[in-house]
Amino acid sequence: MGRALGAGLRSAGAEVLATSRRTASPQALHLDLAATPDSWALPDQVDAAFLFSAVTSLAACRQDPEGTRRINVQNTLALAQRLLDRGAFVLFPSTNLVFDGEQPFCAAEAPRSPRGVYGRHKAEAEEGLLALGGNVAVLRMTKVVGPDIPLFTAWARDLRAGQPVFPFHDMVMAPLPLALVLRAFCALAEARAPGIWQVSAQEDIPYARAAGFLCRRLGADPGLVRPISWRDRPGVEEPPRHTTLDPSRLQQAFGITSPRAEDSLNEVFRSLE
Ligand SMILES: NC(=O)c1ccc[n+]([C@@H]2O[C@H](COP(=O)([O-])OP(=O)(O)OC[C@H]3O[C@@H](n4cnc5c(N)ncnc54)[C@H](OP(=O)(O)O)[C@@H]3O)[C@@H](O)[C@H]2O)c1
Repeated sequence: MGRALGAGLRSAGAEVLATSRRTASPQALHLDLAATPDSWALPDQVDAAFLFSAVTSLAACRQDPEGTRRINVQNTLALAQRLLDRGAFVLFPSTNLVFDGEQPFCAAEAPRSPRGVYGRHKAEAEEGLLALGGNVAVLRMTKVVGPDIPLFTAWARDLRAGQPVFPFHDMVMAPLPLALVLRAFCALAEARAPGIWQVSAQEDIPYARAAGFLCRRLGADPGLVRPISWRDRPGVEEPPRHTTLDPSRLQQAFGITSPRAEDSLNEVFRSLE
């Protein structure tokens, strides 16, 4: 997501400094969130900072809750403070997983109720960031989909090869096109609009139905889509019943409307045909 935002902002004429924990170049600052904050060499002045770096694998967070908390919470807060000190408006990508998913269309102001370690990290980071003052925006998102999602490319590869795929019938997503999410981030940054914002598709859709759409688009045999339960796959965290969020604040302030789940998927699947 960070790479796509950087490319979009650059092509719109903005001066963008990316970060990488792996390499350094004139366009990418070396920044490892696992390292001590004193080792970070940040620019003197920053207009807007998008804190996309995080450990995003639910399994990795579960396996090493404390090590990943250092990255996802502790050092994210330390980085935000340093960026605020340099004049930045700080934007933090968060997730529907700060809620337990028992209710659809969770309101932005509803109490956080994370169930897993990753959701707890995001909830704690949100709270800590918002306590740093009025120059912070949190944007909670449902599932962001683009053509390079490994699950979708694997489905497309297998279906094309006449191989079965095994999507979950009891796990849902509210898919959002990457471009729409990036538009929301840019709108918030430009307006320096603080607080909690949410962006969501209009409805949840089971992964098995998504695989069915892709199968139809590819003209593959529908019998190749063989739905299973998440319980049948070891190591999968119990998914929320609902993932949708109440997007009304973003809609009213910036005219960013929620897409239909099917439209978001079709946009991505078109590029996999
Ligand atoms: N994608 C979604 O559907 C979604 C939904 C809600 C919220 N979000 C949030 O949006 C943000 C971006 O998501 P994404 O899908 O683009 O995630 P991603 O593809 O997993 O990217 C995360 C980035 O963080 C970097 N990173 C990991 N550990 C780091 C460390 N110690 N120091 C510095 N960088 C580190 C990774 O670097 P390497 O490339 O070197 O591994 C990677 O480039 C995340 O905060 C995520 O929680 C995403």
